[in-house]
Amino acid sequence: MTDTRMSMYRSDLLSGKRILITGGGTGLGKSIGKRYVELGADLVICGRRREVLEQTAKEFKDTLGVTVETHVCDVRDAKTVESMMDAIWATGPLDVLLNNAAGNFLARTERLSTRAFDAVVDIVLKGSAYCTMDVGRRWIDAGHKGTVMQILTQSAMTGMPFTVPSAMAKAGALAMIRSLAVEWGPYGIRTVGVVPGPFPTEGAWSRLMPQERIGQAPIEQGVALRRVGEHHELADLCVYLISESAAFITGEAVVIDGGRWLQGTAGASAYNMQQWPDSTWESLKPKKSKE
Ligand code: COA
Repeated sequence: MTDTRMSMYRSDLLSGKRILITGGGTGLGKSIGKRYVELGADLVICGRRREVLEQTAKEFKDTLGVTVETHVCDVRDAKTVESMMDAIWATGPLDVLLNNAAGNFLARTERLSTRAFDAVVDIVLKGSAYCTMDVGRRWIDAGHKGTVMQILTQSAMTGMPFTVPSAMAKAGALAMIRSLAVEWGPYGIRTVGVVPGPFPTEGAWSRLMPQERIGQAPIEQGVALRRVGEHHELADLCVYLISESAAFITGEAVVIDGGRWLQGTAGASAYNMQQWPDSTWESLKPKKSKE
């Protein structure tokens, strides 16, 4: 596929923007962060594992020549979140918070322990809320305009069996950005969401697409465009939504999934119908009367 990224955005589009990506050391958060620094942003990443953060910072230094600020922080712990924000603000305010940190796994809901339920909900719902509330308070107190972007999932809109804690938490996070769009809009704070479809990552793919699940049908069959997403496609949307070009968008969650969730509403029939031979379609036409 042709990569047209360089023609889409000015190389200094995000210069002057200080951005925190939670869980920014791996996966989609890392890909989005890379795009942000390529476009001049001042990037801060946080996560639970120091070595992962340092490895990503080193990679960005070696390949892009940029310095990335890192903070070890489990977003489930409100006190640690506050200390991290204190440390960040000590050298200047953030302009963008990207709530990306997540946890998820496949499990039958009736077999989940309450600790397992809490582990996911605490990261996805509470962690996003702790970061958003802390950043929002600082922005409002200082009269600083900013943007909160939330990574969501289709399950926030439709629910999803076997990932119920994540679906519940993401639905709550969607409610958060819609609510705060109105509550914080008068302060010049925007809240936006992104709903990525299938973008392969090591973490999510190994947890959510185990071989026995993939074995049932290739994921591409469930996507209208018949392919999975490429990380740069998601990253470019995430650039747009935090840029000045999107200054009038708030409270909105943008789906980027190749038409997967819309095809889902048609069940398996959309894919199956596309395999029908002409004769099947012909047989469905009304019979011509002989007169
Ligand atoms: N099925 C059922 N229960 C599971 C599970 C699974 N696949 N994975 C973890 N759990 C349970 C554990 O058994 C434990 O419950 P218990 O004490 O009753 O046994 C509880 O969840 C907490 O697990 P633990 O490993 O101690 O928690 P953690 O905070 O270290 O891990 C998770 C958090 C569960 C989200 C873990 O999957 C993780 O760290 N994931 C990395 C991030 C991620 O998921 N990324 C992909 C996003 S799509």
